[in-house]
Amino acid sequence: MDKFNIGTLNNISQVGLGRLTDKYELTEDIDTAHGVVVRSFKMHDMDFSDNLLAIGRAGAGVNNIPLDRCAYEGIVVFNAPGANSNAVKELVISAMIVGARNICEGVAWTNTLEGDVAGQVEKGKKQFAGTEISGKTLGVIGLGAIGAKVANAAHALGMNIVGNSVVIHPILTAPCEMYDDISEMVKVCDYITIHVPSLPETKGMINKALIDNMKEGAIILNFARPDLVVNEDILAGLESGKLRKYLTDLPSEDLVGKTGVIATPHLGASTAEAEENCAAMAVDELMDYLEKGTIRNS
Ligand code: MLT
Repeated sequence: MDKFNIGTLNNISQVGLGRLTDKYELTEDIDTAHGVVVRSFKMHDMDFSDNLLAIGRAGAGVNNIPLDRCAYEGIVVFNAPGANSNAVKELVISAMIVGARNICEGVAWTNTLEGDVAGQVEKGKKQFAGTEISGKTLGVIGLGAIGAKVANAAHALGMNIVGNSVVIHPILTAPCEMYDDISEMVKVCDYITIHVPSLPETKGMINKALIDNMKEGAIILNFARPDLVVNEDILAGLESGKLRKYLTDLPSEDLVGKTGVIATPHLGASTAEAEENCAAMAVDELMDYLEKGTIRNS
């Protein structure tokens, strides 16, 4: 085929797409596309045209794509593992410090001050005193590209790292004590960060039984997928004081605004650099497949 039509769905970096336009027609009309580049748009309810050969996901997770239907219809799905790992790592590390130092609570309180602000600061200084992450233990669940980078950065900040993972990305340089049994691992963790995909076997993995095994005052970070945790168990853990905080990038409605929950609106991969890297990787994969039949990261 001389020219393929490539459809794009939601917020795909223009720089990444620039790689396409020399050779391909970009189309708004997904119904005629031979390939689609997609970010977080949920494709489950979409009709696919007979032309569609491949989907490139400009991100790591593929749970917005109906994989069973794609497999049945012979549509190849590519993702962009690692392309946004720096962005997610930076957000996770900053969230850990935000949680430890009560930064959100302190900022919200300071914004309410009126009159003699300087005179009132001492009160906030006492009320929002935090803890340091240095010297504490971070448990990393999932040591793929993102988890491994989080582990390396946390270690550079003076943390001890323990891990539970079926794969270990070669980028991991931090010393990391591995645990086969996650319920044993959480007993030694001050912070637990989750970096696994949402799969039938990972859904709800952070639940009451696991939380019961955690240290008093543990902080959980979930910058992966919301369904990895059982929301009511998180809330019960926060209410009882077993958990100090739950920091997440994809909150569900029953967690938003709850005491101890600090949530961002899926900002993990939302940097100019990550958006460019993800779009470029997804586009390159699509082009390689359409032109040469090469399959990577499918
Ligand atoms: C991912 O799975 O890598 C993220 O959800 C990417 C994104 O924000 O689009």
